[in-house]
Amino acid sequence: MKKRDDQKTIVGKIHPDVLSFTVGKDPVLDLDLAVWDCLGTAAHVTMLADMPVRPAILSADERDRVIAALTDIIREALAGRFTITDADQDVHLAVERRLTERLGDLGKKIHTGRSRNDQVAVDIRLHAKDQLLHLTDEVAALAESLAAFGKRHEKLPMVGRTHLQPAMPSSVGVWATAYAELLLDDLLMVEAAYIYNDLCPLGSAAGYGVPLPLDRAKTAKLLDFARPHHNVMHASNARGKDEAILLAACAQIMISLSRLAQDLILFSMPEFGYFKLPPDLCTGSSIMPQKYNPDVLELIRAKAALVEGFASTANTLLTGMPGGYNRDLQDTKELYMEGLRVTRTSLRIMNLMVTSLGVNPDRLRAGFIPGVFATDRALEQVAAGVPFREAYQYVRSHLDELEAADPDQAIAAKTHEGTTGGLDFAFYREKIKNVRRWVKERRNHAFRAFAKLLGTAFPLT
Ligand code: ARG
Repeated sequence: MKKRDDQKTIVGKIHPDVLSFTVGKDPVLDLDLAVWDCLGTAAHVTMLADMPVRPAILSADERDRVIAALTDIIREALAGRFTITDADQDVHLAVERRLTERLGDLGKKIHTGRSRNDQVAVDIRLHAKDQLLHLTDEVAALAESLAAFGKRHEKLPMVGRTHLQPAMPSSVGVWATAYAELLLDDLLMVEAAYIYNDLCPLGSAAGYGVPLPLDRAKTAKLLDFARPHHNVMHASNARGKDEAILLAACAQIMISLSRLAQDLILFSMPEFGYFKLPPDLCTGSSIMPQKYNPDVLELIRAKAALVEGFASTANTLLTGMPGGYNRDLQDTKELYMEGLRVTRTSLRIMNLMVTSLGVNPDRLRAGFIPGVFATDRALEQVAAGVPFREAYQYVRSHLDELEAADPDQAIAAKTHEGTTGGLDFAFYREKIKNVRRWVKERRNHAFRAFAKLLGTAFPLT
């Protein structure tokens, strides 16, 4: 057998093909974790320096030097100057290498009492806490645009459909705010994911703890987590599940977006012509000069399928996995990162679309064929004392006598909660305001904790 050049790494010599196979995309994906890895390390060394053991593992001065070096690495990472090599394998060993290059033997102390297993889990959770706040803001922005569109066209009639068939008088106001509310309710999933994710695995080490008096509550607090996971093996087992739950929340948002996209594709077709897509958000054809295609909406529909796939892949990957750390878990990282990225981009693109969406009132009113008023006619007879089923039978057997009525009157006649004449826009404003307040409070709380940990303003400038 030909002698090959094994690659030297911090954790031993490895066959180059095996190294590149096991490292996978970590050198690229982990760049997004660099800031969080440094913060996690800062919390860990702060706790180590306070740990009641003699001799101390780190002195206060050593702690400060490590934190200063970590702060510089964060700056490098933010400026895009931090790199991870295949020999590093991942961000954790890359940060340790940088610290050792800079601090010599001191850099070699930082991994005391932890493992890459709890490190990667804490990095992803810190990353996710930050990302979920951005995601929530983006959902709120789209819900706000939909509610504003609904308010602008509150009284504009639009046929309500079931089975896509004309069903009842409705309005653009009801259509638009239905999607606003769908997305705002999806935030319940995001909040659940946030709460699930807001636990600190640090100190679980490889998944079984270490014979050192680690103060796990302290590191959790330094990193602004609600609390540590209690059981160390559970902290390890929750890796992957966390990502799957985050993806499940993203998938629900994407399902909502895909249905909105499909409505927009359908109702902007010339055959309907209810809505007009902003031309600069459509794409042309290389052969057909007349084309303004809704590619953006079709891609959002496709991205929904992708994100649901990522969520399902994460679940499948976990199913039947033995307890404790397994390298399979590394592959949940890309699913999570890509799913979140795609969901956030789709929200922003959809917001562009909704903000400059046009309407065609004539075409919307023209959709009100006589059948749309059939239920209203039956209810008129009910008002005169006829039992509903009799009135229904009468209208059903005289459908050809139905006449088109005034859509504006029909939608004004419905006034109960949430229908055409009973939309409460203050309800949406209030909900959106609360969501934004929650995000701001969470973000400020975290930034204050990180500033205290690093002893400098955060975010770093
Ligand atoms: N990059 C690895 C991951 O994402 C880090 C943990 C490696 N741990 C190990 N025991 N090999 O899972």
